Amino acid sequence: MSIEVVILAAGKGTRMRSSLPKVMHAIAGTPMLGHVISAARSIAADTIHVVVGHGADHVKAAFDRVSWIDQTEQKGTGHAVAQALPSLADDSRVLILYGDVPLIASETLDKLVAHCNDEAMSLLTTNLNDPSGYGRIIREQDKVVAIVEQKDASFEQLAIQEVNTGIMAVTAKHLKQWLPRLSSDNAQGEYYLTDIIEMAVGDGIAVEVCQPASPWEVQGVNNRAQLNELERYYQRCRAEAVMADGATLADAGRIDIRGELKVGQDCYIDVNCVFEGQCEIGDKVHIGPNCVLINSRVANGSTIKANSVLEEAVVGEDCDVGPFARLRPGTVLSAKAKIGNFVETKKAVLGAGSKVNHLSYIGDSELGENVNVGAGTITCNYDGVNKSKTVIGDGAFIGSNTSLVAPVTVGKNATVGAGSTITGDVAEAELAVARGKQRNISGWKRPTKKTD
Ligand code: UD1
Ligand code: CA
Repeated sequence: MSIEVVILAAGKGTRMRSSLPKVMHAIAGTPMLGHVISAARSIAADTIHVVVGHGADHVKAAFDRVSWIDQTEQKGTGHAVAQALPSLADDSRVLILYGDVPLIASETLDKLVAHCNDEAMSLLTTNLNDPSGYGRIIREQDKVVAIVEQKDASFEQLAIQEVNTGIMAVTAKHLKQWLPRLSSDNAQGEYYLTDIIEMAVGDGIAVEVCQPASPWEVQGVNNRAQLNELERYYQRCRAEAVMADGATLADAGRIDIRGELKVGQDCYIDVNCVFEGQCEIGDKVHIGPNCVLINSRVANGSTIKANSVLEEAVVGEDCDVGPFARLRPGTVLSAKAKIGNFVETKKAVLGAGSKVNHLSYIGDSELGENVNVGAGTITCNYDGVNKSKTVIGDGAFIGSNTSLVAPVTVGKNATVGAGSTITGDVAEAELAVARGKQRNISGWKRPTKKTD
């Protein structure tokens, strides 16, 4: 039997107080719905249907490879799943998930699917100290016989602590029999998906109960405080994973990983660092406080000092970057390169041992090995229309406050005098000086203040 997933995501999420559809609010930089879709993909679901209503266009624009089901009026969870019925293959098992329950784990979904067949459906429940708001699980002689919603529950039923998470697996065949029979004759005037439990029991279909490994998996989000609780839990798990892989964190509560972070052994990450997208840091990498790494790699033994920002950058072994460095996309540093404070690089390749230590902009540039770029050097790579390249050979020395007007090439071991504006190529080992000649005027008198 194939596996189809139906994710309910049509609700408005009034309590978010947002113009963004609820399921588009992010955990670790990825919309909640994205987490649920990833979980569905991880169990190799054949088709993923997403039921959308509020903000449908916005939601549809954000994801591909899913089948969209429109629910223009939200008449309840049963009504929502019913909209997907025509799209479900008769011989499939259907897993029902929620776009606002983002941390569901694939292991739990595997269990649910494994217990679903022609003779049984499976239901994910959990026990809560405070069950208020949730549907209660009604059992007779230990077997689940019904779910009663909070608003429809009797005083005795309200005391039940086992609650419906909403997540379940049912065959399409059963859904097609049961959903058309739902009625909205209840306290909320909605078509409750939960009413299929009684139908299952009536038809002699077993209701198998599974529980999640952690209660966080089934935590839903209705407001921003709950969104933040899940964010912090998720980040704590990410922090624990990098510590398990051998990184020391100054404070496991002050690191944010919004994507994947691979770490080598004996790394140290100081407080308030943010990692986005795919990042990788090698053995013995030291990252100072307040650094941001986006889709970047830092090889063994390198140090990124405080307040540096790396985006799509590759840092080789034993490099020294920052503090206050900004490595923009296309920056590639070879081993032992140094980038100091207030240096911005973009599409810049530095050879081994090259240094740009202070206050510079190096863009569209190729530097050989052991180049020394003095303070305040600027590659003038943009003429207002086109970008041009600066090439600097091995061992060249660029004096402070030099402007390199690209396209331009400075040869190996050449020297550029401080304060030069270099508009033409400099040959190997030559000295280029391109600045106003100094005149000293003797006997010159400073002006004095007029008195009248
Ligand atoms: C539902 C369950 C309840 C369970 C709880 C867990 C029902 C009747 N009740 O209640 O037993 O304890 O979830 O959180 O199923 N949605 C749609 N279209 C609709 C209605 C809802 O897509 O017409 C989506 C919502 O966007 C939301 C989810 O379904 O993501 C749950 O809907 P909600 O109204 O929050 O259900 P609850 O009342 O919380
Ligand atoms: Ca809810």
